[in-house]
Amino acid sequence: MPAQILDGKLLARQIRGELAEEVAEFVASRGVTPTLAAVLVGGDPASEVYVRNKRRDCEQVGIESRLHHLPEETSQAELLALIAELNADRSVHGILVQLPVPPQIATDVVLESIDPSKDVDAFHAENVGRIVQGQPRFLPCTPNGVIELLKRNELTTVGQHVVIVGRSDIVGKPLANMLVQRGVDATVTVCHSRTRDLPAVTRLADILVVAIGRANFVTAEMVKPGAIVVDVGINRTDEGLVGDVEFAGVSEVASWITPVPGGVGPLTRVMLLLNTLTAARAAVG
Ligand code: GUN
Repeated sequence: MPAQILDGKLLARQIRGELAEEVAEFVASRGVTPTLAAVLVGGDPASEVYVRNKRRDCEQVGIESRLHHLPEETSQAELLALIAELNADRSVHGILVQLPVPPQIATDVVLESIDPSKDVDAFHAENVGRIVQGQPRFLPCTPNGVIELLKRNELTTVGQHVVIVGRSDIVGKPLANMLVQRGVDATVTVCHSRTRDLPAVTRLADILVVAIGRANFVTAEMVKPGAIVVDVGINRTDEGLVGDVEFAGVSEVASWITPVPGGVGPLTRVMLLLNTLTAARAAVG
């Protein structure tokens, strides 16, 4: 029997509806509109699409978004000056610097310059530390999207062996940290490019999360029958957008699978909205 679909698009629409109500209630009671400042440096086409979509989502739920689009040749000092301004601006609750930034700018310096209470990506070291300690201020958007997608489909992580393929700072590492927290209670293995006999490890997974950015990398032979497969990859190929998982083959083996597009991506964007509302609540009280 082919796998059931984990429909992120549908779920994201539902959560946006819930958030729109919460935002309206916040605006009515506090007289303040939650506001996200999105910073885009240069003209990377994919980044432009991501930022446009994030801003459209904000609009849909009543969050104000302000775009700061800087030229490709912007210096690190100029970007830091803008971030300092946004940090000081009390009408801005969340700050997002779209990654990647051009090579003359050091990503880590930029991320550390964002006020942690406005760091809605949860990339600042203070916020990463809080996640590890189980005291999060914000949850990182993509990992939280993965966990929410499982939870809202009543797929438990408790006691499950989750194998994550990919150790990025944006997905693999924070997801592993969240999954081992009490209450989530997964057993976690993180695989990467130096993992020996990767298929032997991925076949152990009850839940397999793939986030390595290689089109169709995970094939049916790498998946235990009945496993849940979550594909975080978005790869632009001649055949259009495809994930890191070879969907046709793997969906014959898995019990549940995310499509690409329409799986994790829409939930990632929803979590940014949630974090912006959380930031506004903390700022306004
Ligand atoms: N580039 C790719 N993913 C992300 C993300 O989650 N946040 C930001 N700011 N940039 C990204």
